[in-house]
Amino acid sequence: MRQLIPPSLFGVVLAAAVLLAASPVPTPEFPQYTGDHQLLRPADYREWIFLSSGLGMSYSAQAGHEMFTNVFVPQWAYQEFLKSGKWPDKTMFVVEDRGSTSKGSINKAGHYQTDWMGIGVEVKDESHFPEKWAYFNFDEDTKSASANPKAGCWTCHDQHAAVEHVFVQFYPTLKPVAKKFGTYKGAAEEVQ
Ligand code: HEC
Repeated sequence: MRQLIPPSLFGVVLAAAVLLAASPVPTPEFPQYTGDHQLLRPADYREWIFLSSGLGMSYSAQAGHEMFTNVFVPQWAYQEFLKSGKWPDKTMFVVEDRGSTSKGSINKAGHYQTDWMGIGVEVKDESHFPEKWAYFNFDEDTKSASANPKAGCWTCHDQHAAVEHVFVQFYPTLKPVAKKFGTYKGAAEEVQ
């Protein structure tokens, strides 16, 4: 490289190369659909912002198996939320289900996370869904999925979430933000 580029330009070329390498790899952080309105499974959600994790929280029919639920939101939507206390259109959320165990290695107490068991995805997409919010499930083999019926997911999120359809009452870093902007429904916190 040194022989091909005049020494005076070398610094410039090097700086450009460093900039290129540092620019983020584009990831599908916005909802993407197939021709028949199925949502494509978000691929790189593990690189999004981690909101929180529940252990054995029970809000679905799968009682009995104590799972961890790890919640993620894309960086851009998180930044918007910090500025407004609201979720911008095209925000996606992933809740990742993982098994839990306490037996392994040097562990003597408590629980740690194990196998991936599937993800639930929530999308705010006002132009795509008349109900604005839509819900999907993916397992290992699912590349795309149709929205779940309203009764399966939408209604509970609509009735019990503290900020729009999102359970901010369980995400400790977001709760003070929503309270600051007055978008927090305090009643959602009451024990039911
Ligand atoms: C009975 C109430 C209820 C139902 C039904 C429900 N959820 Fe949730 N959902 C919750 C609660 C509570 C949380 C908060 C945290 C957790 O579980 O970790 C949550 C969190 C989520 C999140 C993370 C973002 C957020 O909104 O806080 C996603 C994504 C999600 N659920 C998807 C789904 C999908 C998909 C379905 C339908 C298959 C569904 N949910 C059905 C109560 C519900």
